[in-house]
Amino acid sequence: MGKCLLSVVFGLLMLGGCCWARVVNVPPGPLIRVEGQPVSIICDVIEYSGPREQDFDWLISQTAKGETKIKIISTFDARYADSSYTKRVASGDISVVRLDDNVVELKIAELKAQDAGFYWCLTPSTDYVIKGNYDDQVQLIVIPNTLQVSPQTPPANLPEGNDLTLSCNVTRRLNFSTYLSVAWSVKSGAASEDILTFGPEGDVTTGAKFARRYADGGLRLVPGRNGLFELVISRVMTSDGGTYTCSGTEWSHENDNWIKIVESTKEIGTVKVIPTGYKRVIKLM
Ligand SMILES: *[C@@H]1O[C@H](CO)[C@@H](O)[C@H](O)[C@H]1NC(C)=O
Ligand SMILES: *[C@@H]1O[C@H](CO)[C@@H](O)[C@H](O)[C@H]1NC(C)=O
Repeated sequence: MGKCLLSVVFGLLMLGGCCWARVVNVPPGPLIRVEGQPVSIICDVIEYSGPREQDFDWLISQTAKGETKIKIISTFDARYADSSYTKRVASGDISVVRLDDNVVELKIAELKAQDAGFYWCLTPSTDYVIKGNYDDQVQLIVIPNTLQVSPQTPPANLPEGNDLTLSCNVTRRLNFSTYLSVAWSVKSGAASEDILTFGPEGDVTTGAKFARRYADGGLRLVPGRNGLFELVISRVMTSDGGTYTCSGTEWSHENDNWIKIVESTKEIGTVKVIPTGYKRVIKLM
């Protein structure tokens, strides 16, 4: 009997000793984000003991080793922030959102150049033996916003049956590997319709109302050189009249996800399609 109990206790000790070791996780980096834009970093903890609901601290360092870390925000202590961060935490520019008992999200609403660095997610121990990793770190690179979108104004009036070329120059300074996409849309009346999106993987997607026309060759994409992207609508109809816009989006590709890092939308111009029937009427008169 005593022997049996002993072996059970021994077994439990083995279990406790062998089968859990705390793991804290942030996504692998580096994360590339744009100055003035937001960032979200998710951190989770698994294989821990103690209460289900875990607490999290976020810190920043300038080096990967993190010899010197500065405290940013904590789920536990409202007065955690270093004095250099108190204002941004108080204003909500920097926040921490609990997504689950063991998952939180660090959010910065408007990145500054000096936010670049290594972000540390740390969970205080609730384990009865210290085992595993209590923190993890990811690099954040903050790049300047160099995205430029400049459209070329199309003719204001276009006779029915002509081709309409919608030109948009989309560029960004390429210093880190980011990707671009270009999208066109049209608004007539209240409704805005997506026409076509090119990128960020060289792929083309069409808006519901334009899918057929693209398949039939009535919509042509002409990616030119030097940042110029042209969309040609063949044989315009009166229903093509409206206000055209183009958007340029810069993306980062991280851990198999496409992350939109900055976007700019510009109006190309308003086009009125003149019915050819109208011309005939004038000629007859
Ligand atoms: C590109 O990045 C490097 C290193 O961060 C920097 O020294 C350089 O000025 C950058 N160049 C441009 C054009 O932004
Ligand atoms: C597009 O814009 C960029 C940056 O403003 C410029 O360098 C380039 O020459 C432009 N391309 C064309 C085709 O106008």
